[in-house]
Amino acid sequence: MSDAPFSSSDTPFHVLVTGGSSGIGAALALHYARPGTHLTLWGRNQSRLKDVAAQVVRRGATAEIFSLDLRKTDAALHALRKTDDDRQIDILILGAGLGDIRPEGALTETAEQVHEISLVNFTTPVTLATEMASRMALRKGGRIALIGSVAAFHDLPVATAYSGSKAGLARFSTALHAAMTPHHVSVTLISPGYVDTPMSQRLEGARPFLVSSQKAARMIARAIGQGRAHLLFPWPFAIARFLEMIVPRAIVHRLLRTADVRQRPA
Ligand SMILES: NC(=O)c1ccc[n+]([C@@H]2O[C@H](COP(=O)([O-])OP(=O)(O)OC[C@H]3O[C@@H](n4cnc5c(N)ncnc54)[C@H](OP(=O)(O)O)[C@@H]3O)[C@@H](O)[C@H]2O)c1
Repeated sequence: MSDAPFSSSDTPFHVLVTGGSSGIGAALALHYARPGTHLTLWGRNQSRLKDVAAQVVRRGATAEIFSLDLRKTDAALHALRKTDDDRQIDILILGAGLGDIRPEGALTETAEQVHEISLVNFTTPVTLATEMASRMALRKGGRIALIGSVAAFHDLPVATAYSGSKAGLARFSTALHAAMTPHHVSVTLISPGYVDTPMSQRLEGARPFLVSSQKAARMIARAIGQGRAHLLFPWPFAIARFLEMIVPRAIVHRLLRTADVRQRPA
């Protein structure tokens, strides 16, 4: 499969992005926006979705928005099936995500927080990816990308649900990649470090090796185009992942417990 997937046929190339209303998803939508492309943007916030769609159209693509809460997995699956029946999806980017941390002074995250993060970061994206993979495998082509996080590779005491949900997503994604390769469907796991978006802007404190959302979108689109199994960026986080694997876990945990991470409310 080539790095430049856009066709010159009469049928527009169709890219669906969940989380298309903000941050990395919006930057990816703008990256793909060009004549001959149709963007379907999912999110919850109608006015931000409309704003991104207007920018997409100004770049010569066509766009459609859909407001949907990904905590409702059945509704999301129904919407995906209908969208693909109406207009075959060439690239599915599952970018929506929630990044909550333990409330200050609490011993754990709340049960409600953990449930919501599990649905948005894991249950719904793996459900949608599976449906899309089965459809793409039948037509012998297509690309799926799941946006995880470098948090998947670390036991984050203040964000157990975030690191746990992203770890599950990471294993799912590489396993699906293994299953789909013989069927000409690429499944790409994206593991970003800090990207300058509303999500990371809520964090108080340093955001080392920060990458702009535009640069992240360029790297992600290239990895999707190449059909890579995994993109982790920026590179210092690959070293952190390696160190975490070789240093005894008790020491890593002691260090991670000292990290003072806070987050402003959304
Ligand atoms: N920014 C970083 O530093 C960073 C680092 C590693 C991984 N990531 C991952 O990158 C992805 C994109 O994050 P971002 O930084 O671009 O954050 P963002 O700007 O906050 O965007 C998050 C997106 O997810 C959507 N979303 C959240 N909950 C939803 C729900 N219940 N139903 C439907 N849509 C929902 C939001 O839609 P609405 O706003 O319309 O509700 C928004 O479009 C996430 O999966 C995140 O975990 C980000």
